[in-house]
Amino acid sequence: MQQPRVVVVGSSNTDMVVKVPRIPGPGETVLGGRFVMAAGGKGANQAVAAARLGAEVTFVGRLGRDMFGRQTEENLRREGIDTRFIAWDEATPSGIALIMVSAEGENSIAVAPGANGEMTPADVERAEEAIAAADVLLLQLEVPLAAVRRALDIARGHGVRVILNPAPAAPLPDEVLREVDLLTPNQHEAALLARMQGAEPAEMAQALLARGVRMVVMTLGGRGALIAGPEGIELVPAFRVQPVDTTGAGDAFNGALACGMAQGRPLREAVRYASATAALATTVMGAQPSLPTAERVEAFLAEQRP
Ligand code: RIB
Repeated sequence: MQQPRVVVVGSSNTDMVVKVPRIPGPGETVLGGRFVMAAGGKGANQAVAAARLGAEVTFVGRLGRDMFGRQTEENLRREGIDTRFIAWDEATPSGIALIMVSAEGENSIAVAPGANGEMTPADVERAEEAIAAADVLLLQLEVPLAAVRRALDIARGHGVRVILNPAPAAPLPDEVLREVDLLTPNQHEAALLARMQGAEPAEMAQALLARGVRMVVMTLGGRGALIAGPEGIELVPAFRVQPVDTTGAGDAFNGALACGMAQGRPLREAVRYASATAALATTVMGAQPSLPTAERVEAFLAEQRP
């Protein structure tokens, strides 16, 4: 069988992570514990997630020509990811994220996007050949919308399926939503896109379908993931684990979903596979260090009750 091909167009960061007893409020200092510097960024996390699960992955992003940029590219290459279409920015530093993780595993993140924020439609066009040959194109919103839209147009032009993970939360025009095959918001992102604060997940999913999205997979943290489409709505329950750090769990989910779909799994099965990958990712500190291999996910699924 041919290896599933996934192209990720998106961001990469270096994450500076501190474990804290609780997230401090404004003006407050808390003494934390362990510090970890790890590879991160929503796009790069999703690329690594798919690669560890066996997909052939191409990452299209923009890095600063600095120590962090070089390390990021090396890491991605070490994961077997094709980095030929990374653009190097001579004037802007690579992206950095400052992350605090509470004792319960919840996080608070501030991102300095750096070169990610300079990504252009022309950067994406250079990767047209890779996008055209992909089974799935995976996008997020941590790079400028113009670059995301260009990737979407190229994929559409070549009949390639597109998953858009609308993170971090940002409003999107209907023309974008209509072009996406699968939208994967969390509850907060869904509320913003559906313009329905405080509504039930199923209502928000219906509102997104009414705006022209073909399928929605809404992640609901410990409750699971809601699949919504023309055939109805279904909840796929989450797996129970003891979370240490939830940073990157959404990225693990999206990378695994893209890999599962590219492998030809039916959507419900791909969502269950993605949920297992995300659950495992919460049990280890750091975004990319926590992403499991295909063997680990298969073993975890085999341990679960039918
Ligand atoms: O989704 C988690 C990621 O968000 C972190 O790795 C951080 O870099 C930010 O992009």
